[in-house]
Amino acid sequence: MKFTLWVTLTILFFIYSCYVYICSGAEKSPVQPSASALAGWQVWQNKNCHTCHQLYGLGGYMGPDLTNIASDAGKGSDAYLKAFMKNGTDKMPNLHLTEEEMTCLISFLRWVDKSGKSRVAKESVHWTGTYIF
Ligand code: HEC
Repeated sequence: MKFTLWVTLTILFFIYSCYVYICSGAEKSPVQPSASALAGWQVWQNKNCHTCHQLYGLGGYMGPDLTNIASDAGKGSDAYLKAFMKNGTDKMPNLHLTEEEMTCLISFLRWVDKSGKSRVAKESVHWTGTYIF
């Protein structure tokens, strides 16, 4: 009985391993970033956007996760994104970005958005900007 179970689990393990390696979609090549998206990545790092925002849940928690903001029906427009980048809010500082920097940041956020999905639950973020495990 135990032996049959062991053999079954071993077979299932191999079938699953083959499935993961063959059908996982790993062969799909990732979307290559444009020059503008790469420049936006530099701005993202130089201006430390990640100290308050997350990409794939990683970063600071004072502001929202921006992984999929570019495809958000209400927030993904250039005008919406630029409004925040240009003026800041009472919580987000005005970082005095140039038009070019904002355009590059938008390209960067659009490229990140195409790479996958991420959602940080609102209930997991404390008002102090820390993550509740
Ligand atoms: C000091 C923290 C801080 C930094 C640094 C910061 N942000 Fe923000 N950001 C926020 C907060 C907080 C919000 C949410 C708006 C609010 O509550 O005032 C926000 C909102 C946004 C939004 C709108 C998000 C939404 O869901 O409506 C965008 C876009 C944005 N920030 C982009 C950026 C970019 C790009 C940078 C870097 C150039 C940046 N932020 C740097 C704190 C920050």
